[in-house]
Amino acid sequence: MRWDRIIKAVHREVEPILGKGKVASYIPALANVDPKYFALVLTTLDGKSYATGQADIPFSSQSISKVFMLTLALEAWGGRLWKRVGREPSGSSFNSIAQLEYEQGVPRNPFINAGALAVTDAVISKAGERGALDDMLTLVRRASQSDRVRINPDVAQSERQWGHRNTSLAHFMKSFGVIENDVDQVLNTYFCQCALETTATELSRAGIYLANAGKLPHTDEKITRAERATRINALMMTCGHYDMSGDFAFRVGLPGKSGVGGGILCIIPGVGSLCAWSPPLNAAGNSLAGTRALELFARRADINVF
Ligand code: DON
Repeated sequence: MRWDRIIKAVHREVEPILGKGKVASYIPALANVDPKYFALVLTTLDGKSYATGQADIPFSSQSISKVFMLTLALEAWGGRLWKRVGREPSGSSFNSIAQLEYEQGVPRNPFINAGALAVTDAVISKAGERGALDDMLTLVRRASQSDRVRINPDVAQSERQWGHRNTSLAHFMKSFGVIENDVDQVLNTYFCQCALETTATELSRAGIYLANAGKLPHTDEKITRAERATRINALMMTCGHYDMSGDFAFRVGLPGKSGVGGGILCIIPGVGSLCAWSPPLNAAGNSLAGTRALELFARRADINVF
Protein backbone atom coordinates (compact mmCIF):
# COMPACT_ATOMS: atom_id res chain seq x y z
CA MET A 1 0.00 0.00 0.00
CA ARG A 2 1.25 3.47 -0.92
CA TRP A 3 0.78 5.05 2.54
CA ASP A 4 2.51 2.18 4.30
CA ARG A 5 5.49 2.47 1.99
CA ILE A 6 5.79 6.23 2.48
CA ILE A 7 5.50 6.02 6.27
CA LYS A 8 8.12 3.27 6.55
CA ALA A 9 10.47 5.17 4.20
CA VAL A 10 10.12 8.33 6.29
CA HIS A 11 10.90 6.34 9.46
CA ARG A 12 14.11 5.00 7.91
CA GLU A 13 15.09 8.47 6.78
CA VAL A 14 14.64 10.14 10.20
CA GLU A 15 16.40 7.33 12.10
CA PRO A 16 19.79 9.16 12.16
CA ILE A 17 18.35 12.24 13.86
CA LEU A 18 16.26 10.45 16.53
CA GLY A 19 17.50 11.62 19.93
CA LYS A 20 18.69 15.00 18.61
CA GLY A 21 17.18 18.06 20.29
CA LYS A 22 16.14 18.48 23.92
CA VAL A 23 13.36 16.59 25.71
CA ALA A 24 11.15 18.99 27.73
CA SER A 25 12.49 18.96 31.26
CA TYR A 26 10.32 21.45 33.17
CA ILE A 27 8.46 18.52 34.76
CA PRO A 28 9.81 15.02 35.57
CA ALA A 29 6.91 13.26 33.84
CA LEU A 30 8.06 14.65 30.49
CA ALA A 31 11.81 14.44 31.16
CA ASN A 32 11.70 10.68 31.82
CA VAL A 33 10.66 9.57 28.34
CA ASP A 34 13.00 7.67 26.00
CA PRO A 35 14.38 10.30 23.56
CA LYS A 36 14.70 7.65 20.83
CA TYR A 37 10.98 6.91 20.70
CA PHE A 38 9.41 7.73 17.36
CA ALA A 39 6.00 7.19 15.80
CA LEU A 40 4.29 8.30 12.64
CA VAL A 41 0.64 7.42 12.05
CA LEU A 42 -1.69 8.40 9.24
CA THR A 43 -5.43 7.83 9.58
CA THR A 44 -7.30 8.20 6.31
CA LEU A 45 -10.94 9.14 5.85
CA ASP A 46 -11.90 5.51 5.28
CA GLY A 47 -10.85 4.85 8.90
CA LYS A 48 -7.65 2.95 8.17
CA SER A 49 -4.51 3.78 10.14
CA TYR A 50 -0.98 3.31 8.80
CA ALA A 51 1.66 3.31 11.51
CA THR A 52 5.34 2.95 12.20
CA GLY A 53 7.36 3.00 15.42
CA GLN A 54 6.00 3.33 18.98
CA ALA A 55 2.51 4.18 17.77
CA ASP A 56 0.79 2.61 20.78
CA ILE A 57 2.83 4.09 23.62
CA PRO A 58 0.90 6.84 25.44
CA PHE A 59 2.53 10.26 25.67
CA SER A 60 1.57 13.73 26.85
CA SER A 61 -0.34 15.63 24.16
CA GLN A 62 0.26 18.97 25.88
CA SER A 63 -0.50 21.90 23.58
CA ILE A 64 -2.17 19.69 20.96
CA SER A 65 -5.12 19.68 23.39
CA LYS A 66 -5.56 23.37 22.48
CA VAL A 67 -7.01 22.27 19.14
CA PHE A 68 -9.78 20.31 20.85
CA MET A 69 -10.56 23.06 23.38
CA LEU A 70 -10.71 25.57 20.52
CA THR A 71 -13.20 23.33 18.73
CA LEU A 72 -15.43 23.34 21.83
CA ALA A 73 -15.06 27.10 22.31
CA LEU A 74 -16.10 27.77 18.71
CA GLU A 75 -19.09 25.49 19.12
CA ALA A 76 -20.08 27.36 22.27
CA TRP A 77 -19.41 30.94 21.15
CA GLY A 78 -19.17 31.00 17.35
CA GLY A 79 -17.63 34.20 15.98
CA ARG A 80 -18.02 35.96 19.35
CA LEU A 81 -14.96 34.01 20.54
CA TRP A 82 -12.77 36.41 18.54
CA LYS A 83 -13.58 39.23 20.97
CA ARG A 84 -11.53 37.36 23.60
CA VAL A 85 -8.66 36.07 21.49
CA GLY A 86 -7.03 37.12 18.21
CA ARG A 87 -6.17 35.24 15.04
CA GLU A 88 -2.70 36.51 14.25
CA PRO A 89 0.63 34.74 14.62
CA SER A 90 2.49 36.14 17.62
CA GLY A 91 6.09 35.73 16.45
CA SER A 92 6.86 35.10 20.12
CA SER A 93 7.49 32.00 22.19
CA PHE A 94 4.51 29.95 23.37
CA ASN A 95 4.59 31.26 26.92
CA SER A 96 5.48 34.89 26.23
CA ILE A 97 3.79 37.60 28.30
CA ALA A 98 5.24 40.72 26.58
CA GLN A 99 2.61 41.33 23.87
CA LEU A 100 -0.25 41.05 26.35
CA GLU A 101 0.54 44.39 27.94
CA TYR A 102 0.55 46.29 24.63
CA GLU A 103 -2.61 44.57 23.44
CA GLN A 104 -4.85 45.11 26.48
CA GLY A 105 -4.66 41.53 27.67
CA VAL A 106 -6.17 40.04 24.50
CA PRO A 107 -3.88 37.20 23.36
CA ARG A 108 -2.74 37.08 19.75
CA ASN A 109 -4.12 33.62 18.94
CA PRO A 110 -5.68 30.52 20.56
CA PHE A 111 -2.50 28.42 20.43
CA ILE A 112 -0.04 30.46 22.49
CA ASN A 113 -0.52 29.74 26.19
CA ALA A 114 -2.27 33.06 26.89
CA GLY A 115 -4.71 32.39 24.05
CA ALA A 116 -5.37 28.85 25.21
CA LEU A 117 -6.15 30.15 28.71
CA ALA A 118 -8.67 32.59 27.18
CA VAL A 119 -10.21 29.75 25.13
CA THR A 120 -10.46 27.46 28.17
CA ASP A 121 -12.05 30.33 30.12
CA ALA A 122 -14.63 30.70 27.32
CA VAL A 123 -15.50 26.99 27.44
CA ILE A 124 -15.80 27.12 31.25
CA SER A 125 -18.24 30.04 30.92
CA LYS A 126 -20.60 27.73 29.00
CA ALA A 127 -19.89 24.28 30.40
CA GLY A 128 -18.52 24.89 33.90
CA GLU A 129 -15.12 23.82 35.20
CA ARG A 130 -15.76 20.07 35.26
CA GLY A 131 -17.86 20.24 32.09
CA ALA A 132 -15.09 21.85 30.03
CA LEU A 133 -12.63 19.07 30.76
CA ASP A 134 -15.26 16.33 30.43
CA ASP A 135 -16.37 17.72 27.07
CA MET A 136 -12.80 17.76 25.78
CA LEU A 137 -12.20 14.17 26.94
CA THR A 138 -15.47 13.04 25.41
CA LEU A 139 -14.57 14.67 22.10
CA VAL A 140 -11.10 13.09 21.97
CA ARG A 141 -12.36 9.66 23.10
CA ARG A 142 -15.18 9.66 20.56
CA ALA A 143 -13.03 10.84 17.67
CA SER A 144 -10.14 8.50 18.52
CA GLN A 145 -12.54 5.62 19.27
CA SER A 146 -10.56 4.93 22.42
CA ASP A 147 -11.68 5.03 26.03
CA ARG A 148 -8.09 4.62 27.16
CA VAL A 149 -7.45 8.33 26.45
CA ARG A 150 -7.15 10.08 29.81
CA ILE A 151 -5.87 13.03 31.78
CA ASN A 152 -2.64 11.87 33.43
CA PRO A 153 -3.01 12.99 37.08
CA ASP A 154 0.75 13.09 37.75
CA VAL A 155 1.39 15.34 34.75
CA ALA A 156 -1.52 17.60 35.75
CA GLN A 157 -0.11 17.87 39.28
CA SER A 158 3.38 18.74 37.97
CA GLU A 159 1.93 21.33 35.59
CA ARG A 160 0.25 22.89 38.62
CA GLN A 161 3.42 22.80 40.68
CA TRP A 162 5.59 24.38 37.95
CA GLY A 163 2.90 26.56 36.40
CA HIS A 164 4.24 29.94 37.55
CA ARG A 165 4.38 31.40 34.04
CA ASN A 166 0.86 30.25 33.14
CA THR A 167 -0.40 31.53 36.49
CA SER A 168 1.11 34.93 35.73
CA LEU A 169 -0.46 34.98 32.26
CA ALA A 170 -3.91 34.15 33.64
CA HIS A 171 -3.77 36.78 36.39
CA PHE A 172 -2.45 39.38 33.97
CA MET A 173 -5.36 38.74 31.60
CA LYS A 174 -7.80 38.78 34.50
CA SER A 175 -6.51 42.26 35.39
CA PHE A 176 -7.63 43.39 31.91
CA GLY A 177 -11.01 41.69 32.33
CA VAL A 178 -10.27 39.21 29.53
CA ILE A 179 -10.62 36.17 31.82
CA GLU A 180 -14.20 35.86 33.05
CA ASN A 181 -14.05 33.00 35.51
CA ASP A 182 -12.13 32.33 38.68
CA VAL A 183 -8.43 32.26 37.71
CA ASP A 184 -7.74 29.09 39.71
CA GLN A 185 -10.54 27.25 37.92
CA VAL A 186 -9.21 28.31 34.53
CA LEU A 187 -5.66 27.30 35.46
CA ASN A 188 -6.73 23.97 36.90
CA THR A 189 -8.63 23.12 33.71
CA TYR A 190 -5.72 24.26 31.55
CA PHE A 191 -3.20 22.18 33.54
CA CYS A 192 -5.45 19.12 33.22
CA GLN A 193 -6.01 19.61 29.48
CA CYS A 194 -2.23 19.82 28.94
CA ALA A 195 -2.00 16.44 30.71
CA LEU A 196 -4.14 14.81 28.00
CA GLU A 197 -2.51 11.46 27.31
CA THR A 198 -2.90 9.64 24.02
CA THR A 199 -0.94 7.38 21.74
CA ALA A 200 0.09 8.54 18.28
CA THR A 201 -2.57 6.27 16.78
CA GLU A 202 -5.26 7.77 19.01
CA LEU A 203 -4.17 11.32 18.24
CA SER A 204 -4.10 10.76 14.50
CA ARG A 205 -7.67 9.42 14.76
CA ALA A 206 -8.77 12.26 17.04
CA GLY A 207 -7.87 14.88 14.43
CA ILE A 208 -9.79 13.23 11.61
CA TYR A 209 -12.83 15.56 11.78
CA LEU A 210 -10.56 18.44 10.76
CA ALA A 211 -9.69 16.57 7.56
CA ASN A 212 -13.33 15.70 6.92
CA ALA A 213 -15.20 19.02 6.97
CA GLY A 214 -15.90 18.77 10.71
CA LYS A 215 -17.43 15.27 10.70
CA LEU A 216 -16.25 11.92 12.06
CA PRO A 217 -16.08 9.69 9.00
CA HIS A 218 -16.88 6.45 10.87
CA THR A 219 -20.21 7.69 12.30
CA ASP A 220 -20.93 10.80 10.21
CA GLU A 221 -21.29 12.64 13.53
CA LYS A 222 -20.80 16.38 13.22
CA ILE A 223 -18.15 17.66 15.64
CA THR A 224 -18.13 21.14 14.16
CA ARG A 225 -19.26 22.96 11.02
CA ALA A 226 -17.20 22.58 7.87
CA GLU A 227 -16.32 26.27 7.86
CA ARG A 228 -15.08 26.07 11.45
CA ALA A 229 -12.91 23.06 10.67
CA THR A 230 -11.38 25.07 7.81
CA ARG A 231 -10.66 27.95 10.14
CA ILE A 232 -9.12 25.78 12.84
CA ASN A 233 -6.85 24.37 10.13
CA ALA A 234 -5.95 27.91 9.04
CA LEU A 235 -4.98 28.79 12.61
CA MET A 236 -2.95 25.60 12.94
CA MET A 237 -1.08 26.60 9.81
CA THR A 238 -0.43 30.20 10.87
CA CYS A 239 0.00 29.79 14.65
CA GLY A 240 0.36 26.07 15.49
CA HIS A 241 4.13 26.15 15.88
CA TYR A 242 4.54 29.49 17.70
CA ASP A 243 7.49 31.51 16.42
CA MET A 244 8.35 28.69 14.05
CA SER A 245 4.93 28.53 12.39
CA GLY A 246 6.30 30.12 9.22
CA ASP A 247 9.09 27.57 9.09
CA PHE A 248 6.62 24.69 9.52
CA ALA A 249 4.36 26.04 6.76
CA PHE A 250 7.39 26.49 4.51
CA ARG A 251 8.77 23.00 5.12
CA VAL A 252 5.61 20.91 5.55
CA GLY A 253 2.85 22.96 3.91
CA LEU A 254 0.09 21.43 6.07
CA PRO A 255 -1.79 22.67 9.15
CA GLY A 256 -0.08 21.36 12.28
CA LYS A 257 -0.15 21.74 16.05
CA SER A 258 2.75 20.79 18.26
CA GLY A 259 3.05 19.93 21.94
CA VAL A 260 6.08 19.88 24.23
CA GLY A 261 5.55 16.14 24.73
CA GLY A 262 7.01 15.84 21.21
CA GLY A 263 3.77 15.18 19.37
CA ILE A 264 2.56 17.02 16.27
CA LEU A 265 -0.96 16.67 14.88
CA CYS A 266 -1.03 17.46 11.19
CA ILE A 267 -4.11 17.68 8.97
CA ILE A 268 -4.35 16.78 5.30
CA PRO A 269 -7.76 18.20 4.35
CA GLY A 270 -9.82 15.66 2.39
CA VAL A 271 -7.25 12.91 2.95
CA GLY A 272 -6.56 12.23 6.61
CA SER A 273 -4.90 13.15 9.84
CA LEU A 274 -1.27 12.49 10.78
CA CYS A 275 0.46 12.27 14.11
CA ALA A 276 4.24 12.39 14.43
CA TRP A 277 5.86 11.79 17.81
CA SER A 278 9.48 12.18 18.83
CA PRO A 279 10.14 13.69 22.29
CA PRO A 280 13.26 15.85 21.73
CA LEU A 281 12.37 19.43 20.80
CA ASN A 282 13.91 22.23 18.74
CA ALA A 283 14.53 25.74 20.09
CA ALA A 284 10.87 26.77 19.72
CA GLY A 285 9.56 23.75 21.69
CA ASN A 286 8.40 21.73 18.67
CA SER A 287 9.44 18.12 17.98
CA LEU A 288 12.68 18.20 15.99
CA ALA A 289 12.45 14.78 14.31
CA GLY A 290 8.65 14.98 14.20
CA THR A 291 8.83 18.13 12.09
CA ARG A 292 11.40 16.54 9.82
CA ALA A 293 9.26 13.40 9.46
CA LEU A 294 6.24 15.45 8.42
CA GLU A 295 8.36 17.42 5.97
CA LEU A 296 9.61 14.16 4.41
CA PHE A 297 6.11 12.70 4.38
CA ALA A 298 4.65 15.74 2.60
CA ARG A 299 7.45 15.64 0.05
CA ARG A 300 7.25 11.90 -0.63
CA ALA A 301 3.43 11.93 -0.82
CA ASP A 302 3.55 15.14 -2.86
CA ILE A 303 0.87 16.61 -0.63
CA ASN A 304 0.45 20.13 0.71
CA VAL A 305 -2.32 22.69 0.88
CA PHE A 306 -0.59 25.10 -1.46
O1 DON B 1 1.59 25.31 29.39
C1 DON B 1 2.72 24.88 29.19
O2 DON B 1 3.69 25.59 29.26
C2 DON B 1 2.87 23.41 28.82
N1 DON B 1 2.09 22.59 29.65
C3 DON B 1 2.46 23.13 27.43
C4 DON B 1 3.06 23.94 26.42
C5 DON B 1 3.23 23.31 25.09
O3 DON B 1 2.98 22.15 24.82
C6 DON B 1 3.87 24.21 24.16
N2 DON B 1 4.16 23.57 22.96
N3 DON B 1 4.96 23.25 22.27
